Amino acid sequence: MKPSEIRELLKYASMPDFISFGGGMPNPLSFPMNELREIVDEVIDVNGKYALQYGNTGGLPDLKTEISKMVLKTEKIKTEEKNIIVTSGSQQGLYGLGKIFLNHSDSLIVESPTYVGAISAFNANAGKMIPIEMDSEGIIVEKVEEKIKSLKANSNLPRFIYVIPNYQNPTGHTLSLERRKHLMELSETYQIPLVEDNPYGELCYSGEKIPSLKSMDKSGENVTYLGTFSKVMCPGLRIGYTIAPEAVVSKLNLLKQALDLSSSTFSQYVAYEYLKKGVIYKQVPKTVELYRKKRNIMLKALEDYFPKNSTWSKPDGGMFIWATLDKKINTSEMLKTSIENGVGYVSGLAFSPDGSHTSSMRLNFTFSEDEEIVRGISKLSNTIKNVSVRATPA
Ligand SMILES: Cc1ncc(COP(=O)(O)O)c(C=O)c1O
Repeated sequence: MKPSEIRELLKYASMPDFISFGGGMPNPLSFPMNELREIVDEVIDVNGKYALQYGNTGGLPDLKTEISKMVLKTEKIKTEEKNIIVTSGSQQGLYGLGKIFLNHSDSLIVESPTYVGAISAFNANAGKMIPIEMDSEGIIVEKVEEKIKSLKANSNLPRFIYVIPNYQNPTGHTLSLERRKHLMELSETYQIPLVEDNPYGELCYSGEKIPSLKSMDKSGENVTYLGTFSKVMCPGLRIGYTIAPEAVVSKLNLLKQALDLSSSTFSQYVAYEYLKKGVIYKQVPKTVELYRKKRNIMLKALEDYFPKNSTWSKPDGGMFIWATLDKKINTSEMLKTSIENGVGYVSGLAFSPDGSHTSSMRLNFTFSEDEEIVRGISKLSNTIKNVSVRATPA
């Protein structure tokens, strides 16, 4: 879209009764305001002279220790401070990995569709993305293997494989245990690093939690893991972390010196207290309750209103449902009409590394009020039905 078109759309998006399923935003009700207010006061009172000062590029050592305890508890990842770097959101980690792994036109394997911010980060580093199809069990690893074999025959192996195994953005799909094991085997056999991006792992509403790839990485050398406080605390503090082999951490450190010297020292102190006091373990179950209800409401509304020839994912966690409409409908073209009718979404094309997914859309269920979810899905269904009538020749 050209900037003028975006401005045109934003005019409608700021209408008072506009319903947005577009942004990937947490619900403000999940922000632990009272606890954070107390923590912020304490950080200023007790550690103000450090928290308001420049800090280490790699991150606050105490925070890294708390992160290592947290990932052991939540993901059974055994790690140490030397393998952790604190980043300004996990987005910075993604950009950094693109920068250090990719030389011009090097290839990498990604899920299709994949996270739009990863596409930007890899494009910014001139990476050539090789998209591999997904189904409801995540990326189809047999296809990854076929692709690796054909690339190896041309001595052109990808530099890494990027996956979001839990409640993927944008599809909501979760990578099955069998496929995780297979992916680990491929990584070990062909010596291709895996980049595991896990912002949503804790937002689990149904089903079993499946072990992270990083917890299966016996040598610690094959998987680089990206985590964030954005969905389990709040995104505004911009704190994420990367757990990686020491060589990768040291390269990221050098890059970070050039990017921002360090992540916000103040935010890191707040995140440290949030972990040390165990507030996170009280907050996440509340967020899970809030979002589980919203997911169920959206799934029911889709069942009640969406055209019968559409399909959608049934995520066990995370923030998104991925809906696919009749292939005659182009969701990018339909977006303007939908916004004029008061509902926003993100069209499938935004998540496509190769121009596919033009009949799909990502629907966020965490941000809107419960009643808005029902009203928004009903309105969106009407838009789709009207557009389908026009798309079908008489
Ligand atoms: C898959 C994925 N990775 C990374 C990010 C970046 O998150 P942050 O920079 O807030 O940590 C997001 C944000 O929505 C995401 O969905």
